[in-house]
Amino acid sequence: MRVVITGGAGFLGKLLAAKILERGALTDASGQLREVSELVLVDMNAAQGEPWLADKRVSQVIGDVADRNVLAQAVSANTGSVFHLAAVVSGQAEADFDIGMRVNVDATRTLLELMRTLSLPAKFVFTSSIAVFGGALPAVLADDQILTPQGSYGAQKAIGEMLVSDMARKGMIDGRSLRLPTVTVRPGKPNKAASSFASGIIREPLAGVDAVCPAAPDAKMWVQSPPRVIDNLLIGHEVAASHLTHTRSISVPGITVSVRDMVDSLRRVAGDHVADRVTWQLDPTIDRLVSSWPQAFSAERGKALGMTADTSFDDMVRAYLVYINSTKGATA
Ligand SMILES: NC(=O)c1ccc[n+]([C@@H]2O[C@H](COP(=O)([O-])OP(=O)(O)OC[C@H]3O[C@@H](n4cnc5c(N)ncnc54)[C@H](O)[C@@H]3O)[C@@H](O)[C@H]2O)c1
Repeated sequence: MRVVITGGAGFLGKLLAAKILERGALTDASGQLREVSELVLVDMNAAQGEPWLADKRVSQVIGDVADRNVLAQAVSANTGSVFHLAAVVSGQAEADFDIGMRVNVDATRTLLELMRTLSLPAKFVFTSSIAVFGGALPAVLADDQILTPQGSYGAQKAIGEMLVSDMARKGMIDGRSLRLPTVTVRPGKPNKAASSFASGIIREPLAGVDAVCPAAPDAKMWVQSPPRVIDNLLIGHEVAASHLTHTRSISVPGITVSVRDMVDSLRRVAGDHVADRVTWQLDPTIDRLVSSWPQAFSAERGKALGMTADTSFDDMVRAYLVYINSTKGATA
């Protein structure tokens, strides 16, 4: 079957593509394990520099996901699964309401409408975010906490979740929305997410570069490592629809760390000379967004489905060090 990843040239899209190619098969909406014969990446940028791009199962559609013609090149009759990752991230969606609506809402709706034309409903995995919650929140959020986004990105993800749940209820798709924790440590360059610093304060000092932290040391975050997120995305894909009862939205398990905890982990794992490269300078916009996000979830539903959290932030820093050592000399 054909599997489509929108945002396939992005950070998580590329990791997901590599993992799907390695697995070679996924379960379709009827519960049948099917060979992945085609993997189509859709993105406004071309994926580059990955050895698996030479795999004959891989093709790319380069274009805007808000353009139905672009999506129509990717979603064909034999499409069994779509992972919808393309998005404008939090900082950009907050700064530019129109682009956020166009990419995060309009493109999601267009893609879902296109999937309605398939003769057999396909699986649809939507990468939502904990930013669908905000404001006055309990210390630990239950699975059925009401959605109260405090930023445009969270509001747009909440709209996506509702579309996925309603169209799944109507049998138009076999959808599931996974609310991912903040993913760190992200390699490469900073992105426009308000949470980007959560990777920058680890990644830059480890590369010998100074990093300025724009959030308060006491700010707490709900985080997960990249490999763990990919495992959880695939668990969310594989689970049978019969296990998803009154909602198609799942909060993915994570761990809670304060920004100070993160720098302390860096100190324990890499030493004072590395951790001392982090300095603090509050950015009120980022601090407001980050401190409006939830800090802990019970994530009972995700855990019952087999999703897991990382063991500690120290281990997440160590995993990143293993990753950068394994890619030394490779194209970034
Ligand atoms: N990384 C995180 O911490 C995190 C946390 C929660 C949710 N998410 C969600 O997971 C998904 C993937 O995140 P990521 O970290 O890989 O982001 P990313 O920014 O690395 O990747 C997103 C990709 O979408 C593409 N894209 C954006 N607008 C597009 C358009 N109009 N047309 C075509 N392609 C377009 C970008 O080119 C990029 O390659 C996103 O939906 C994001 O909201 C990420």
